[in-house]
Amino acid sequence: MDDALVYLNGEYLPRERACLPLTDRGLLFGDSVYEVVPAYGGRPFRVNQHLARLDRSLAAIRMQNPLSHDEWRTVFERLTAPVQGQDQSIYLQVTRGAYPVRNHVIPAQVDANVFAFCMPIPPRDPAVAARGIRAITLDDIRWHRCDIKATTLLANVLARAQASDEGADEAILVRDGQVMEGTASNLFIVSNGLLITPPDSPELLPGITRDLVLELAQEAGVPHAHATIGMAELESAEEVWVTSSTREIAAVVELNGRRVGDGVPGEMWHRMDALYQACKERLRLGDECHDD
Ligand code: PDD
Repeated sequence: MDDALVYLNGEYLPRERACLPLTDRGLLFGDSVYEVVPAYGGRPFRVNQHLARLDRSLAAIRMQNPLSHDEWRTVFERLTAPVQGQDQSIYLQVTRGAYPVRNHVIPAQVDANVFAFCMPIPPRDPAVAARGIRAITLDDIRWHRCDIKATTLLANVLARAQASDEGADEAILVRDGQVMEGTASNLFIVSNGLLITPPDSPELLPGITRDLVLELAQEAGVPHAHATIGMAELESAEEVWVTSSTREIAAVVELNGRRVGDGVPGEMWHRMDALYQACKERLRLGDECHDD
């Protein structure tokens, strides 16, 4: 992204010229929310859903969206236009702004800071995707509003570090015996042929990829359900997946050092992954796949 532009408060700037004051509340308090929107062939994927979730995150932290959805779309177009040849993830963040005095109290007059930039998504290697990933489970030490896509991600970062230390790609977080989600992904299991993901709750992010997987399952007649998942169900699942805008649908083939199913991505994963990839390809061709 070196020569690509960054959007900052209405301007498009080279990255080295895009600066925020040290007193920005996003920096001081993590007082900010964000989104990550993948763009394929220059077209943002599920953009309406991402913008709706941004509105919900902002409302939950007592802010209004400083930009209209049309303004956000223009930002996405401007950022991706020079790099259309490569898939991108668009990162955007809205902070509660910078104020002269560091004070926990939310200022009466809020002047948000808004920025966004693109990062290339490496081309998908089907052989790598078909190898699957490793995961560990960890105690979920995060707060009780994980449904807000807030930038206060230290617990997630530390859990991911522990996963890396143990040779794993993702940590699956467990609260009071219930499996919630990954550090930066949602969770699915396949149990007795049924595709299951934990229900919406303040303890997990309502993932855009997760919703798409459920819509695709519905269309394809794949039996699916929202249901709580305990450790025993996770450990005995035929398949375990994590989903996110950047990881898409990743099959977990090893959990806490033990094989999941046959130790390779399962039949259901192959089916859903193919549907997901087809959706991406339709978007490249200009069809707003499942973006209503
Ligand atoms: N994170 N849960 C958490 C905690 C996440 O951070 C993410 C995504 C997801 C999946 O959401 P979605 O399908 O909408 O990407 C679930 C992004 C990719 C990130 O922080 O980089």
